[in-house]
Amino acid sequence: MSAEWGFATRQIHAGAIVDAEAGARITPIYQSAGYVFEGFDDGAERFAGRSARRAYSRNDNPTNVVAARRIADLEGGADGVLVASGQAAIAAALAALAQAGDHVLTTDRLYEGTREMVRGALRRTGLRFEALPIDAEEDAWVAAVRPETRAIYAESIANPLGEVADLAMLGRVSARTGVPLVVDNTVATPFLCRPFEHGAAIVIHSTSKWLSGHGSVIGGAIVDGGAFDWNAAAERFPQLHEPRPHGAPSFAERFGATAYAAYLRSVVVLEHGPSFPATSAFLLLHGIETLSLRMERHVANALAVADAVRGHPAVTRVHYPGAGDGQEAIVARLLPDGAGSIVSIDLAGGRDAARAFLDRLRLVSQMTHIGDVRTLAIHTGSTIHGKLEEQERLELGITPGLVRISVGLERADDVIADLLQALDAVVP
Ligand SMILES: Cc1ncc(COP(=O)(O)O)c(C=O)c1O
Repeated sequence: MSAEWGFATRQIHAGAIVDAEAGARITPIYQSAGYVFEGFDDGAERFAGRSARRAYSRNDNPTNVVAARRIADLEGGADGVLVASGQAAIAAALAALAQAGDHVLTTDRLYEGTREMVRGALRRTGLRFEALPIDAEEDAWVAAVRPETRAIYAESIANPLGEVADLAMLGRVSARTGVPLVVDNTVATPFLCRPFEHGAAIVIHSTSKWLSGHGSVIGGAIVDGGAFDWNAAAERFPQLHEPRPHGAPSFAERFGATAYAAYLRSVVVLEHGPSFPATSAFLLLHGIETLSLRMERHVANALAVADAVRGHPAVTRVHYPGAGDGQEAIVARLLPDGAGSIVSIDLAGGRDAARAFLDRLRLVSQMTHIGDVRTLAIHTGSTIHGKLEEQERLELGITPGLVRISVGLERADDVIADLLQALDAVVP
């Protein structure tokens, strides 16, 4: 799509197709498992990947392709792939880069589901992970890279405490070492932050969150920036350079800058099968059309909520990136249009106060999930971080009274009134 068009235009039009049969302006839901071959030879060509025509919806569906292209366009990337969930996006993105014995560097501030997967399922497949402090210096990251390191992994804004990764610095580490930077940009969204501009090679989303916005579908996306030099890093990524069956050219030879996305789609997603439903892509597209408008309002509401609860006698600390947390400079640099809409609060009365506060909310929904038009709140210590020992929670900054609030799009005064009436009840 024309790079001259602004974000608000591209979120509506990028990747859109006009249905050839009926001329439908809205991208149709192609709810079909497979696609009819035009004959024997055409089937063989499609399976060999020599035809642009598709074969099977497990990894290639026209509705999904429109949504994937739109997300890739908004991120400034070259190609995108949709998978069943954000969790599946992380697993697939790493499976396309690393195998048993390989090493991945991460920041020590990650969504707990990612930490669980890294320490559980992915470790069981033989991958080795090492976490560095999110504020570690550039040279410390470079020194931690080993010959078998296959990725540097970070969240642009970490869930739930809003620590911001210095993507420009990590981009320099990537350039110095030839190891791709993979960024989970779920909380920032491409409206607030575009990691490719800072040197990321791959961007991941849980599309269940702000990209959809309506909270009605689970999904994930992986975007290939198209600028990483897979040839310079050939020894780290043999899967992109090996000849394909029957002497066909390697992914790097055939797809060049988007070899990673091609490998992800036609090997990892095809073999593992974390398919994205076409109906979900349809709903996702409808969400993306209003992303910029929603994000402006999400940010405004989050700032209003953070201001309103700061200083309340029941609250000892308010977490919002760049608001009194020492991250002002990095937020100004990486997130000039706002730092998302998660506001987490520490309650003075600990876990009992959190219980009383949450059970008193009338408008705000007590549930897990973020990035919804509705305001949602959760005590992460007894839910998302519930499996951890108390000491481990504290090391991650998860205090007994921590409540995460994903600020929605209701009238800010109504959300604030609900939060304040519940806070008033838990003043120590
Ligand atoms: C930052 C982040 N990444 C990934 C995920 C996983 O996404 P999903 O729930 O769509 O699997 C989440 C879920 O909360 C998240 O917050």
